Amino acid sequence: MRSVLITGSTDGIGAESARVFGAQGDDVIVSGRDASKGAMVVDEIVQNGGSARFIPADLSSLDALHDLAAEAGDVDVLVNNAGMAPVSATVGQDAGVFDKTFALNIRAPYFLTQAVAPGMLERGRGAIVNVSSVAASVAVPLMSVYSATKAALSELTRTWAAEFADRGVRVNAVAPGPVETAMFHSMTPEKAKEFNEATMLNRAATTREVADVVAFLASDKASYMTGAVVPVDGGGTAL
Ligand SMILES: NC(=O)c1ccc[n+]([C@@H]2O[C@H](COP(=O)([O-])OP(=O)(O)OC[C@H]3O[C@@H](n4cnc5c(N)ncnc54)[C@H](OP(=O)(O)O)[C@@H]3O)[C@@H](O)[C@H]2O)c1
Repeated sequence: MRSVLITGSTDGIGAESARVFGAQGDDVIVSGRDASKGAMVVDEIVQNGGSARFIPADLSSLDALHDLAAEAGDVDVLVNNAGMAPVSATVGQDAGVFDKTFALNIRAPYFLTQAVAPGMLERGRGAIVNVSSVAASVAVPLMSVYSATKAALSELTRTWAAEFADRGVRVNAVAPGPVETAMFHSMTPEKAKEFNEATMLNRAATTREVADVVAFLASDKASYMTGAVVPVDGGGTAL
């Protein structure tokens, strides 16, 4: 049974990924700040015959991140999913929000990977999947900080893939377009319509449509894939 650690899995894409890994027989570690939401995801997986536990962690703190890695133990699959997406014009950007976004979206996956990867490299197997965004490669006005963190995460995907390839650890990323989560529903209907219309399929993805690609990239079916950033964007970036 593989041990799968998914950050930000109390909700949205992370929670759905937890359900998918749980349903396919993996031992899932659900994580986030909200213990009651975490317990609900764990209960659902266990009630469906799977194996899961919750480890709380606020990943804006390096200490919490190291505690999470220590409590998780040996991890076979790491999904760096937790993220925040502040909206602000560059001219009015708050420096505190800038730092918080980089801490959660970039510093956390960087140092969690640093903590978890040595075990994978020692065992000669493992998979890391980063949750990036189409915002890493197209211009999204008012999301400069978010876009910069996701561009960095896409680049870390390629760098880590090259660093770990010779010791059996693959690193890939998904780059979703709009996905039906709290993050997406917090937009104004006009903004959501604009995002949907920027895809070929003219709609947002379900969380399952992203989670299935995350699970595929972490599986042996993707054994020849590493360093890839896979768009899951309804054709948006191909337009
Ligand atoms: N939704 C989209 O349209 C979309 C598109 C492209 C990429 N993405 C990316 O997909 C990922 C997941 O997004 P989502 O839409 O599924 O978001 P979501 O539904 O808002 O869920 C975010 C998750 O991150 C966790 N989280 C937030 N702050 C955290 C912190 N400080 N420490 C630990 N966990 C924290 C939350 O858990 P707690 O509240 O329990 O802490 C929650 O489980 C993000 O990286 C996002 O950038 C989303």
